[in-house]
Amino acid sequence: MPAPTPPAPLRCADGCWQPVRLAPDMYHADAPVRAGEAACIVVDQGRIAWVGPQAALPAHHAHLQQHAGQDWLATPGLVDCHTHLVYGGQRADEFALRLAGASYEEIARAGGGIVATVRATRAASEDELLAQALPRLRQLLAEGVCAIEIKSGYGLSLAQERKQLRVARRLGELCGVTVRSTFLGAHALPPEYAGRSQAYIDLVCAQMLPALAAEGLVDAVDVFCERIAFSLAETEQVFCAARRLGLPVKLHAEQLSNMEGAALAARHGALSCDHVEHLSAAGIAAMRAAGTVAVLLPGAFYTLRDTQRPPIEALRAAGVPMAVASDHNPGTSPYLSLLLMANMACTLFALTVPEALAGITRHAARALGLQDSHGLIAAGRPANFVLWPVQQAAELAYWLGHRPACRIVRQGRIAA
Ligand code: NIG
Ligand code: FE
Repeated sequence: MPAPTPPAPLRCADGCWQPVRLAPDMYHADAPVRAGEAACIVVDQGRIAWVGPQAALPAHHAHLQQHAGQDWLATPGLVDCHTHLVYGGQRADEFALRLAGASYEEIARAGGGIVATVRATRAASEDELLAQALPRLRQLLAEGVCAIEIKSGYGLSLAQERKQLRVARRLGELCGVTVRSTFLGAHALPPEYAGRSQAYIDLVCAQMLPALAAEGLVDAVDVFCERIAFSLAETEQVFCAARRLGLPVKLHAEQLSNMEGAALAARHGALSCDHVEHLSAAGIAAMRAAGTVAVLLPGAFYTLRDTQRPPIEALRAAGVPMAVASDHNPGTSPYLSLLLMANMACTLFALTVPEALAGITRHAARALGLQDSHGLIAAGRPANFVLWPVQQAAELAYWLGHRPACRIVRQGRIAA
């Protein structure tokens, strides 16, 4: 299969974008903007240079090229902070099995689940994985995503994890989007290590992670801490290996049961704890103390027809930032719409619309350590923003199955 050809160069977004309406709580202005007032975003050399009321545009920017803002609503580029976008095959058969009554855990214990995708991913070449992931990424990007996390975890050997992480890097270059790649070597026990979990974790810590980090392929390290995956002690061993390499950690925590993984992750300064349906009060307190983001994944909750909702009210009361992500993967969340996830976060988890929108922008950026460059429209940042033909921000979480034809500025280029 030939490698995909790079897309044609995109037009530069430098100039004045006006008039636009700035979505509440999603920008930092250089001059005060009244609610609904016509505003302007200035882009210079790929960065946002000024944000404020159109009427207050400084004279030295006024000569720049003009871009029609059409009075559309401006939000920061969306951030999908938890995905497993690179994999081989699909698992529609498991969807049918679950509808017939099998649980995710039962399917995993019977040799399906993550390990089924490991088989398909190992069988695919790097170029084949790239070709399969590319349309999925394009789907997310067309909805305004400007930064995305992509995890490994379907290779489970040094060479196979490298293949996945290399595809993640190539996707970022090919599509002109910020990609953070997360090493999830401790996602499941590979079949060749059956009954030898400790030996596999030793391999992850002593060989796989150091080698991949040295190749510049790892931005963060994640573990699936669960009854069907890795124990608290094994998780801690991986976190210690990450710390030795100066890499931030995250955790698939308390998805199917309470393992007290979130508190452990927070003690290791985790960027985020993700899923968190079974999160305890102690976990919330530890996350609050560490500034760890709770990443809510309503797509997986919905697919697994889970009934245990994350403790939203307690997280809210504690002031733990809540992000919302797609968790795109072929098993528990085969969805490619971050706006749908915002909708589900409201309908299934009772987030308010402003919380859901902060969840796919500001807090998602923080879950990736990108809070200084993404998730907010503000001077000095790379130009990543979206203009939406909608009256109010709530519409972004309200429509379903209809993608507003938005205008996207990504990495200083007009992407749509
Ligand atoms: O985030 N929970 C573990 N990992 C993924 C599912 C991966 C899979 O089933 O392939 C998740 O839901
Ligand atoms: Fe996940």
